[in-house]
Amino acid sequence: MDDAAGPTTPRAGAETLLRARYGLSPAVVVRAPGRVNLIGEHTDYSEGFVLPAATDAALWAAAAPLPEPLVRAVSAAEAEETVFPTSAPRQGPVPSWGRYLQGMAAVLAEAGVSLRGLALGLDGDLPVGAGLSSSAALEIAAGLAFLACAGHPLDRRSLARLAQRAEVEHVGVRCGIMDQLAVTLARAGHLLLIDCRSLEVEPVPLPAEAVLVVCDTAVPRRLEESGYNTRREEVEAAARALAAARPGVRSLRDLALRDLPLVHALPAPLDRRARHVVTENARVLEAVQALRRGDLAAVGTLLRASHRSLRDDFEVSTPELEAMVAAAQESPGCVGARLVGAGFGGAVLALVERGREAAFVAAAGAAYRRRTGRSGRFLVTGAAAGAEVLTGSQDGTW
Ligand code: GLA
Repeated sequence: MDDAAGPTTPRAGAETLLRARYGLSPAVVVRAPGRVNLIGEHTDYSEGFVLPAATDAALWAAAAPLPEPLVRAVSAAEAEETVFPTSAPRQGPVPSWGRYLQGMAAVLAEAGVSLRGLALGLDGDLPVGAGLSSSAALEIAAGLAFLACAGHPLDRRSLARLAQRAEVEHVGVRCGIMDQLAVTLARAGHLLLIDCRSLEVEPVPLPAEAVLVVCDTAVPRRLEESGYNTRREEVEAAARALAAARPGVRSLRDLALRDLPLVHALPAPLDRRARHVVTENARVLEAVQALRRGDLAAVGTLLRASHRSLRDDFEVSTPELEAMVAAAQESPGCVGARLVGAGFGGAVLALVERGREAAFVAAAGAAYRRRTGRSGRFLVTGAAAGAEVLTGSQDGTW
């Protein structure tokens, strides 16, 4: 693995980094995948429904204990090291990617985990800022490494909740729970229907005749600088107004399609924001039914409707996302496409007939370049298993 040609896999990359920077052999290795969401966008923070999967692309963390009470981390994707004390994880300046590690350490400590010193080497093939939730992967990878080091068992839902808290409190993005639950609970070959109120999950097989293609516009966005928090405030304002009109409404999850006349009476733009959430929840449940009966064409129709709703009602699209959706829709094998993740930049998700993905990528890449002058990036993925902890080499000491 340490040969002159360099590491050949992200796992080997993470282990090599740990050895090269800290002279340590990995005691624990963690794989945390990215997430891609088939449908159910901007519904999680209204306690609604989402249908994500984990990507084959993942972040890998190799970890080893340190004698001193410090967390030290290096990443193949970042120039600067992250260092902070285990006794006061929020302390000290760290590079921006280190805030996710600090946040995770802080919420675990507050939850009663006694953190021990550790060194981390991180590497992966998960693109950052492409709408694949590299941030949740980083939180969960670090969280699992901290827990393994502390010898502290924790169930996956609690870990996901803590990771969400770390992002809200420490990074300043008021994200929902979808990404962290997808990264921790995903099942290979399946999409995961998540009820973001009960946190119950139901695996739904991804049809064998389809693959997921993430079509990155190559225009990254940082969520904390985008309108994400504004959208969340608008949705909460809409829910408060509707609760006044109809007691018992706790969030937009409590409204169904038949309640749309009530939604349309809200002042703009709250009417459109709420309409997106209510109709999107209905589309998720319809998509699950369509998948179960193998009706890919119906899924495609729902993906296109989801995109229109995100563009016109939720207003989170951009010119590049529009160009990419159009490029995807006109390319061979495309069942349906829509912007994925928060929007405001990032990526489009296309559902593509298996066997036609190479032709799809070539055509969509050319069409996107024609429209924008930019080179998009494409990632074909199946539905992978959620995060896992693997033991490292035998010389680890914890
Ligand atoms: C981001 C957030 C998620 C979710 C999506 C939009 O990825 O982290 O919680 O709200 O945006 O669906």
